[in-house]
Amino acid sequence: MQKTSEWLMSFNSSQRQQVQALIHERKKSFNKSVTVSFTGGKGGVGKTSIALKFAKELAKQGHKTLLIDCDYNLSNTAIRLGLPLNNSNFYSLLTAQKSFEDCLHKEGNFHLLSACNGDLDLFDSKLKLEELILDIIAGHEDDFDFILLDCPAGLSKEALILNAYCDQRIFVVTPDKASITDSYSLMKVLSTKFGVKENHLLVNMYLTSKQFQRVAVTISETVENFLGCRTNILGGLKRIDVEHSRFDNFFLANTESGFHKKFLQVVHKYSDDLSRSLGEFNSSSRNRLEQDVQTIS
Ligand SMILES: Nc1ncnc2c1ncn2[C@@H]1O[C@H](COP(=O)(O)OP(=O)(O)OP(=O)(O)O)[C@@H](O)[C@H]1O
Ligand SMILES: [Mg+2]
Repeated sequence: MQKTSEWLMSFNSSQRQQVQALIHERKKSFNKSVTVSFTGGKGGVGKTSIALKFAKELAKQGHKTLLIDCDYNLSNTAIRLGLPLNNSNFYSLLTAQKSFEDCLHKEGNFHLLSACNGDLDLFDSKLKLEELILDIIAGHEDDFDFILLDCPAGLSKEALILNAYCDQRIFVVTPDKASITDSYSLMKVLSTKFGVKENHLLVNMYLTSKQFQRVAVTISETVENFLGCRTNILGGLKRIDVEHSRFDNFFLANTESGFHKKFLQVVHKYSDDLSRSLGEFNSSSRNRLEQDVQTIS
């Protein structure tokens, strides 16, 4: 059977746009999990921290959530949660020596598939990792409400394919000019090559409300004017001034802090946008879409 990623790549970019839309409509009608990437082009902007906290929050709200660490050989998710590193799990899953269930870390509704840390077998392997991840996602879309991807920085083919496959992308951007430029570049390639026309934006590490506004407006207006893409602004998180060694505890803590409350607002904004977009899908178009998907595939 043809792999999901090969199937997706077998279309030209304008066909892919159509296919992408149909996949998403089909998934809505079949109640499949919502797939979301945490991305942004630039490294060190907070993708992993935010993906972890987001996944934990969705799980706390009762959604069965899977977070997949797609920074395959520089995995940070387990270490950020204070879990022991287990290089062999992810590689064993990719090479079919272990089952998916055996490789997960579970805490209630929160499920984590962490990856490797400088694993030499993975480094030497010729595995097409983005294809394997897409097949893992496609194979478990009935089992979770949300599948979140912590994407690696950069414009690699892997990052592009994962972002293009996801129903939604949350771009994590800081006020740093390089972060804004790199995000724009990623949005541009996704729009041009994969027909991705809508993204979410989360501004991280801003210092003042004015700065947050400037970043959000600059990005949303630029991508609309030059790429014809829509940006859903989820909100922002201030730069936290806590000692480095205490950062993860503070950031991930479920407390009464202003920071946590602000984070919850971002998650609620995301949930509201999602409910609205799911609500817009009406059953009268369902049959036609299902037929269209079958024709294309
Ligand atoms: N709101 C914030 N305030 C202060 N520091 C932050 C904030 N968000 C993230 N950081 C800091 O930025 C560092 C990088 O965060 P993180 O690892 O989540 O980024 P990343 O985008 O996943 O990086 P990479 O591209 O390397 O995977 C963290 O160690 C953390 O200390
Ligand atoms: Mg990261």
